[in-house]
Amino acid sequence: MPWTGRHVVLGVSGGIASYKSCLLARRLVERGARVDVVLTRAAAEFVRPLTFEALTGRPVLSSIWERDGALAHVRLAHAADLVIVAPATAHLIARVAQGLADDLLTSLLLAATAPVLIAPAMNDEMYANPITQSNLRALTSRGISSVGPEIGGLAEGPSERPGRMSEPETIAAHAARLLRRGGPLAGKRVVVTAGPTRESLDPVRVITNRSSGRMGYRLAEAAWERGGDVVLISGPTSLVAPVGVAVRRIETTADLARAVGEALPAADVLVMAAAPADYRPAEPSATKRSRGDGALTLALEPTEDVLASTLPLRKAGTFMVGFALETGDAAARGRGKLARKALDLIVVNDALEPGAGFEVDTNRVTLIARDGAEQVLPLMDKRAVADAILDAIEARLG
Ligand code: CTP
Repeated sequence: MPWTGRHVVLGVSGGIASYKSCLLARRLVERGARVDVVLTRAAAEFVRPLTFEALTGRPVLSSIWERDGALAHVRLAHAADLVIVAPATAHLIARVAQGLADDLLTSLLLAATAPVLIAPAMNDEMYANPITQSNLRALTSRGISSVGPEIGGLAEGPSERPGRMSEPETIAAHAARLLRRGGPLAGKRVVVTAGPTRESLDPVRVITNRSSGRMGYRLAEAAWERGGDVVLISGPTSLVAPVGVAVRRIETTADLARAVGEALPAADVLVMAAAPADYRPAEPSATKRSRGDGALTLALEPTEDVLASTLPLRKAGTFMVGFALETGDAAARGRGKLARKALDLIVVNDALEPGAGFEVDTNRVTLIARDGAEQVLPLMDKRAVADAILDAIEARLG
């Protein structure tokens, strides 16, 4: 897992958004990171050190002059895998741009060799001010990454201009991407399909299936965090778009085939996690059918096999991943589909097994590769399954 055993320094400067940094600290700890929080004096006016100590299980540092503060800036700067500053106020940004080292956090930032991510947060006028903009450019030109600010409510009321700090989940996703920079998926175009498709019977009714889209969404999220340039082709779902990912929404299996056909020429990896409807009504009605008309017999015709239809479009070297949700001898059927659809990897699971398949947050899968390798994975949450699938892809990418 990307965060396990990683050492993160979370710097917090004095803005009202510091309440969101408590949640960020908690999320990073839950994911396995060791988090050392460094507060500026102003930050400690907003959130007490005790709150962060309880959330991280580690002492909070706020001054060079107290407790472990002496040389802490050098110790932490060397130990950290990543430094996050959230919120980064206009004043903190100005101090860093000037190279000032007048407290623990700015001294640490000057000494840090690990990547640094800042999440600016301030009043919208302060953010728009050319001085702040020029300070931010100075930070960017020195290799410091930033996320946000976003448009939305500020402490003083609603605003239509940027100023609001990004949400903790967004900051965590950007931080994960920075932490994993330079891996095999960095800069690779990854196309993921997700969710069901649906076929109209009439303007009101559809044929669809139980796919929730969760597996594909977790894959897109994890691939972006690994540095991929990710396009998610999604059937109808209620899921939130993952951070950084371009989402293209489709409805029918024919739409999916078209979208995949368009995305494939530029793709380095295609992961077909979607569950396309295999049949569509042969004669959909343009008007709503009435129950009063009596019993209804539907004629269905098969839809196109999207993966098979891509065979002539595939360029050499595009890594192709399929899924197979089976109810019989899953591994044998999976191997058959791997060969028939000319895939590099197939993710097989048993639809009847508890905790696996549709509409749950967990999955138990077997990965079968074209090179013959088989990996039986335990029951895991879908994000962990996504990471295991991406590990298998990365190990085989040319
Ligand atoms: N798939 C596809 N086009 C379809 C149906 C499925 O490209 N019309 C893809 C799925 O996204 C998945 C893989 O093919 O990656 C296997 O899906 P599955 O439904 O198991 O395959 P089918 O070819 O429909 O096989 P079956 O005969 O078992 O229905």
